[in-house]
Amino acid sequence: MYTLNHINLKIDDNKFILLAGETGSGKTTLIRCMNGLIPQFYAGYYKGSIEIAGQKTTERSIADLSTIVGIVFQTPENQLIAMNAEHEIAFGMENLGISQGKIKEKIEEVVQLTNIEDILEKAPFEISGGEQQRVAIASVLALEPQILILDEPTANLDPYFAQKILKLLKTIQKEQHITIIIIEHRLDLVLPYVDEIILMKEGEILEQDTKEKVINGKIFKELKINKPLIYSIFHDLKERNLIEAPIPVSLHEAINLLKQKL
Ligand SMILES: Nc1ncnc2c1ncn2[C@@H]1O[C@H](COP(=O)(O)OP(=O)(O)OP(=O)(O)O)[C@@H](O)[C@H]1O
Ligand SMILES: [Mg+2]
Repeated sequence: MYTLNHINLKIDDNKFILLAGETGSGKTTLIRCMNGLIPQFYAGYYKGSIEIAGQKTTERSIADLSTIVGIVFQTPENQLIAMNAEHEIAFGMENLGISQGKIKEKIEEVVQLTNIEDILEKAPFEISGGEQQRVAIASVLALEPQILILDEPTANLDPYFAQKILKLLKTIQKEQHITIIIIEHRLDLVLPYVDEIILMKEGEILEQDTKEKVINGKIFKELKINKPLIYSIFHDLKERNLIEAPIPVSLHEAINLLKQKL
């Protein structure tokens, strides 16, 4: 039995994409395929091919691929290995043989972008979960990936810091014109930033479309995932024929819709 089946996925440039699906549906496995970890690091049966920026993931080393696809894993403390944030960010670049001058420049840039000036000298265990997330994001961004993938980046954060991280990611995506793929269970928080949604179930991709289309579709309705509160309210209003418009995807849209109604 394969963990993933019939995967046929095309990811565009310059998009903020949410990857959602029930637990065990294969989300983490799918993103591990995108940077070559599967099949290069995890052993198993593998059929088919994946191209990232025109390159087959089986024909480039994982280090090479990390300059195209950067992944931030769910528990950043496992990803942070250096003695402090500054070394952490430099580490990947040093491995790629980038010059010290360029490394310094890049560190300054990503530190500013992720707002971690004050914690550069601190060890991973001396900083909070949210700060660890930022350091992990900064070290991945330093390699200038065209695609940034994050596996539940807000799982260990309270809603306030989760919101901050998501806002930061949207800013980075827009400023750097990269594609972000995010696995995130808090749809309430992430939805306003998202362009496109990919829905997975039992190792297959059920749907990939704009968030407006996905949210208003039958597959989303039936999937056993944590629905945004706005979705539940407006879905109920629609079922009772109290509202006809499509279900709004942000608080802002919901308010506008209600204003028109009242
Ligand atoms: N290294 C592995 N070897 C074999 N099977 C695995 C491995 N990792 C995960 N699986 C299996 O693959 C399936 C998909 O797992 P995956 O971690 O991709 O799901 P997920 O959608 O990320 O779930 P969650 O939302 O809980 O993180 C599960 O049935 C899991 O048990
Ligand atoms: Mg997972």
